Amino acid sequence: MNTVLICVSVLLGLISAQSVPSVENLIKSDGYPVETHFHTTSDGYILRIHRIPQLKNHSAKVALVHHGLACSSADFLLLGPGQALPYMLHDAGFDVWLLNDRGNTQSRNHTTLSPHDRDFWDFSWHEIGVIDLPETIDLILKTTGASEIYYVGHSQGTTTLYVMTAVLPEYSSKIKVAISMAPIAFLGHLNNWVQKYLARFVWIFTEFTQSFGHFEVMFGPNVANQKILDIFLFLNRPVNMNENMKSKINAWVPAGASTKQTIHYSQLMNSGHFRYYDYFVGNIAIYGSIEPPDYDLGHVNFPNYLFWSNNDLLSSEKDVKLLCKAIGSSCTMVSFSHYNTTHRDYLYSRFASEKIYSKIVNIFNKS
Ligand SMILES: *[C@@H]1O[C@H](CO)[C@@H](O)[C@H](O)[C@H]1NC(C)=O
Ligand SMILES: *[C@@H]1O[C@H](CO)[C@@H](O)[C@H](O)[C@H]1NC(C)=O
Ligand SMILES: *[C@@H]1O[C@H](CO)[C@@H](O)[C@H](O)[C@H]1NC(C)=O
Repeated sequence: MNTVLICVSVLLGLISAQSVPSVENLIKSDGYPVETHFHTTSDGYILRIHRIPQLKNHSAKVALVHHGLACSSADFLLLGPGQALPYMLHDAGFDVWLLNDRGNTQSRNHTTLSPHDRDFWDFSWHEIGVIDLPETIDLILKTTGASEIYYVGHSQGTTTLYVMTAVLPEYSSKIKVAISMAPIAFLGHLNNWVQKYLARFVWIFTEFTQSFGHFEVMFGPNVANQKILDIFLFLNRPVNMNENMKSKINAWVPAGASTKQTIHYSQLMNSGHFRYYDYFVGNIAIYGSIEPPDYDLGHVNFPNYLFWSNNDLLSSEKDVKLLCKAIGSSCTMVSFSHYNTTHRDYLYSRFASEKIYSKIVNIFNKS
């Protein structure tokens, strides 16, 4: 999410990248049915989408669970049977789908490019929001015959939802209700002072990658990459988790991202705007304006619950309030501050199932 992070992570990531276990096997060994769907996007990325189907109910409501930056579908599963969010949704009768964004360990394939090509990594969360997410929603609706999706995203999984509704407002009508855990749109007030400071130098990386191309960062899974994330993104703020989660996280996290995703976020920290990627002098040719355009949050016309906590260094109260105000009357803020919820507690904490996910199941059931 900033220059130092990118440098160090690339070095260590290249040195110690290792193979990743199979999500299908994980779901099977947890005792749930699983299907894998491959989708080739309009720009050639081959996405691996997991489904935990309702084998006996073909009219089950359809839920889509969308991961955050440098994460994958696996992160949501690590709490195990009956406890992990996708399993709880399945137990509650939902047909559950898990997206893997382009470039992560599960979706590292392309019709003409390889992850060794610079061009493969020339995408931000903008492209995930305008291509991967809507195309996956269409695939799910076509496969299931459903007309609406129950959506839950974490962190970048919320950013991409907002990008989609801004650029492709017609997709708003395909969302029944959305839960945004640790929402990220505005970043002008984030509580991570290291990030805030280093973001000021992001122009160096913007220029550099414009000349030399983008590449992969935070590719793991390995302990070195996790340490970097811990220090820079979360300032060593601990996750409220049980000991047995550590080895599981070590096997899966982090799952890789592009420099362009992290640079784009850093640009938001500087500008305080939720807006398109800043190409500097390139903006005129690309956008027809000196500044990149803002994403219009006015098209979120489905009920949207923002789960936030003042213990979350990235998704701050002030920024979540700005987001909620921009969304308007369909927004509801739900605080988890009293559980000291940190950014990653939404995925791994010992109280996630009981306090956070049960609330999601409740909201989905009565929507
Ligand atoms: C199938 O799912 C629908 C929608 O959630 C529900 O109304 C119905 O009761 C379910 N049917 C069975 C047999 O569980
Ligand atoms: C990538 O896609 C190509 C073409 O569809 C396929 O032959 C290959 O096995 C895939 N590789 C991986 C690692 O999934
Ligand atoms: C939250 O943190 C405070 C201060 O460290 C502590 O006193 C309190 O017990 C914590 N609450 C929970 C629910 O963990």
